[in-house]
Amino acid sequence: MAVLAELTHRCPLQCPYCSNPLELERANREMTTEEWRRAIREAAALGCMQIHFSGGEPTVRPDLEELVAEATAAGLYTNLITSGVLCNRTRLDRLAAAGLEHVQLSFQDSTAAIGDRIGGHVGGHEKKLAFAQAVRDVGLPLTANFVVHRQNLHHLDDMIAMAADIGAGRVEIANVQYYGWALKNRAALMPTREQLDAMVLTIQAARARVVGTLIIDFVVPDYYARRPKSCMGGWGRRFLNISPSGKVLPCHAAESIAGLSFDNVRQRPLAEIWQTSDAFRIFRGTDWMPQPCRTCDRREIDWGGCRCQAFAITGDAARTDPACALSEDHERLVSLAATDAMAQDRFVYRRPRRAKMQPIAT
Ligand code: SF4
Ligand code: FES
Repeated sequence: MAVLAELTHRCPLQCPYCSNPLELERANREMTTEEWRRAIREAAALGCMQIHFSGGEPTVRPDLEELVAEATAAGLYTNLITSGVLCNRTRLDRLAAAGLEHVQLSFQDSTAAIGDRIGGHVGGHEKKLAFAQAVRDVGLPLTANFVVHRQNLHHLDDMIAMAADIGAGRVEIANVQYYGWALKNRAALMPTREQLDAMVLTIQAARARVVGTLIIDFVVPDYYARRPKSCMGGWGRRFLNISPSGKVLPCHAAESIAGLSFDNVRQRPLAEIWQTSDAFRIFRGTDWMPQPCRTCDRREIDWGGCRCQAFAITGDAARTDPACALSEDHERLVSLAATDAMAQDRFVYRRPRRAKMQPIAT
């Protein structure tokens, strides 16, 4: 259904829950324009309908317009997932002319104080607001994305109001997913049970208020769930991810699973990788499932939950997702959530060489 094109891991922000791997790809290993263009054509030929240009920050690539044009010519629906801090109106006009159809803009909070601290980028919040205005002026549909956690959930209502103010048609309230950088920062991010309860009430009230004008996407965070989400819509069923250097992954966080190896679109055709590579086949379908998933009537609904989370918590990606209350590991997840929700508030930022700790803003 969709390909996530991670054009680069370069990014002016340093969010402590970044979904990029701990080992960031260097710029000199990124695929060239021609390599990306070929991968885009192969994705379309394989049957993909959408392409999401992401990163890192995809607008650091000067060839983004060419890639959007290639995707448009290949018949793909094009979406730009951006922090919005590097892209001005002129560039946005060029992207729209190349065929860009949708923009997804990430925010770290509804306020500059917390947003800039979480993103590690002074002035970032103001730039995002200016970019949102540019998106509106160009006439592209806009989704606002807020990643929520213990340190910003008290602003949830304001985030939703802000999404409506900037003209978004949809807002994604995304709870942090704990792999990679976010796992490193779990103790600083985990919401409390009280925050979760308040969050659910706030979302219900907001949905009633904005019905018909703003769509609110929200899923209960895994660590407090009773059943897992259908992560990626099932491993190797709907999505594929291409890393900056051309590795083809069944999920953006798949590199967090030790022992998996990934084929590269520079060396093998995308269709062949999708159909035959070990990384895609290993958890595709239901044959790999252990009990209780193997005989569960939800096995073709949630596909056993999230492989990356199973690995992060148990060290074995082939176990049932611990977010499921039927999993033997569920109690461990519940107790990790309770411990981390009471822990420290300091972040490890995503740039290894510039990693630093910063006290919570008051
Ligand atoms: Fe899903 Fe497996 Fe839990 Fe059943 S046992 S609900 S298939 S994770
Ligand atoms: Fe990788 Fe869920 S994040 S399978």
